[in-house]
Amino acid sequence: MGKNGRRRDDQAGEEFYECIKDLLEHPVVQEMQKYIQHGTTTCYQHCLNVAYYNFRLCRRLGLDARRAARAGMLHDLFLYDWHEHAAKTGDHFHGLRHPRRALENARRHFSLTSLEEDVILKHMWPLTVIPPVHAESFVICLTDKYCGFCETVGDRHRLYYRRYPLYRKMLRSISFLHP
Ligand SMILES: [Fe+2]
Ligand SMILES: [Fe+2]
Repeated sequence: MGKNGRRRDDQAGEEFYECIKDLLEHPVVQEMQKYIQHGTTTCYQHCLNVAYYNFRLCRRLGLDARRAARAGMLHDLFLYDWHEHAAKTGDHFHGLRHPRRALENARRHFSLTSLEEDVILKHMWPLTVIPPVHAESFVICLTDKYCGFCETVGDRHRLYYRRYPLYRKMLRSISFLHP
């Protein structure tokens, strides 16, 4: 990457941080550090990844990057370990129900716009049937799945990339998601 590209990235990183820094410092958001989301990635880090991709992609598309980043940071604020959730509670539908739980927790601690609420509530679409209202919610449907995929693959990425042509092809076909 050239000097200009690096400067652009630094600037985007600073703008991104300004959008979400109050959320990052909040104890309820910090609590997500306790739970693993995918592989070795905590729920907090996953939300940060999704928030960043939301910010970059929405900015590039001329959408509300600030609101998309903030909703991204709160989209999985369900606050339990989902790996043991079904055994502990008998609820086998975490995948379908956690967007509503995240929204309720987020509402309790922050004031949200209708756009942010839609982004949080619809982020699992099309698994949850009711489609998004806002374009930013369609963006999180992509960025959340993409981040989840990368976090799950983790350290095996290089190996897969070298070994499997289909894996390389698939990543190239979704390279538009990369900021
Ligand atoms: Fe989620
Ligand atoms: Fe997520």
